[in-house]
Amino acid sequence: MSHVVERDEVTGTATTGHEWDGIRELNTPLPKWWLWTFYATIAFAALWVVLYPALPISGATGLLGYTARGAADQDRAAQASAAEPMLARLRATEPAQIVADPDLRAYAMAGGRVAFANTCAGCHGAGGQGAPGFPNLADDEWLWGGTLADVEQTIRHGIRAPDDDASRTSLMPRFVADGMLTAAQANDVVEHVLSLTNRATDAAAARRGAPVFAENCASCHGERAEGNREMGAPRLDDQVWLFGGDKASLLRTVSFGRGGVMPAWEKRLDPATIRMLTVYIHSLGGTEAAPQ
Ligand code: HEC
Ligand code: HEC
Repeated sequence: MSHVVERDEVTGTATTGHEWDGIRELNTPLPKWWLWTFYATIAFAALWVVLYPALPISGATGLLGYTARGAADQDRAAQASAAEPMLARLRATEPAQIVADPDLRAYAMAGGRVAFANTCAGCHGAGGQGAPGFPNLADDEWLWGGTLADVEQTIRHGIRAPDDDASRTSLMPRFVADGMLTAAQANDVVEHVLSLTNRATDAAAARRGAPVFAENCASCHGERAEGNREMGAPRLDDQVWLFGGDKASLLRTVSFGRGGVMPAWEKRLDPATIRMLTVYIHSLGGTEAAPQ
């Protein structure tokens, strides 16, 4: 059968020879540019599969050895090396000098804020406002001192941190549990403590409690209950309470003792991060100056 190419009379285009109910299909070829683009995308895909990790096989990297994780690591390394000169300066500069240098101070405040959110806010609250047992760092009441040096010491070595020999260790004793006071004496001394903020519920008991306090408590909390930072013994004549200042909480403290643990960070954080945290915390909490 000879193959005659029929042409459509109206358009002059060749037809495919197919006909449905008198309608003939025109044979319009794909434009060359479209076809070549299409072939190019196929070639591109094939090349991509060879060069990049395109196959769902774990560990596949392609010939170029590229991985998204590797690229992220590179970005991080680049960022770290960009930050390094500043971090080195922070490591080499005492906190007081950091505070005095506007550039370093701004850097330390920004870095300290981030490090605080990551590492400290879980215990001390998002703004350092504290919670029962976890001191407020945003006020100017300090258990262990609020100068830059005090704050840095606390962060590096913690408080009662079992894994750091330079950590502070003094405890609030378990007066009733360990038989140093009777329950009645504990009640009296707690009434005395309440009387320091004019909240005693039993004046006679509070009077009986005064000598108990002088004998058992003043050595750590001070004669006038003004607190002692050497011992981390809180002031008891103000409205700031770490473990609660109501009578029940006070009785619990005196009966069973307290010993909050602040972790030591020296082995866990870069010294530059500790410096930044020191400057940040110090700025939150009343910026106590070092004694002259
Ligand atoms: C696991 C909980 C926890 C974490 C995390 C924690 N702290 Fe503490 N921190 C404490 C406790 C508890 C105390 C109070 C210890 C005490 O009773 O004397 C404390 C005390 C402090 C103090 C002393 C406050 C004062 O009044 O003298 C500072 C400063 C401090 N923390 C800073 C930090 C910083 C900075 C971080 C983050 C690097 C941090 N803390 C992370 C639990 C924590
Ligand atoms: C050996 C030193 C020492 C002695 C003695 C001592 N305390 Fe304490 N006391 C502490 C320390 C340290 C803390 C803080 C514990 C902590 O932060 O976990 C504390 C905490 C407290 C608190 C909690 C304060 C708050 O803000 O919640 C009260 C109340 C208290 N002591 C009362 C007394 C009374 C009353 C006596 C005497 C019967 C006494 N303490 C004797 C060291 C002592």
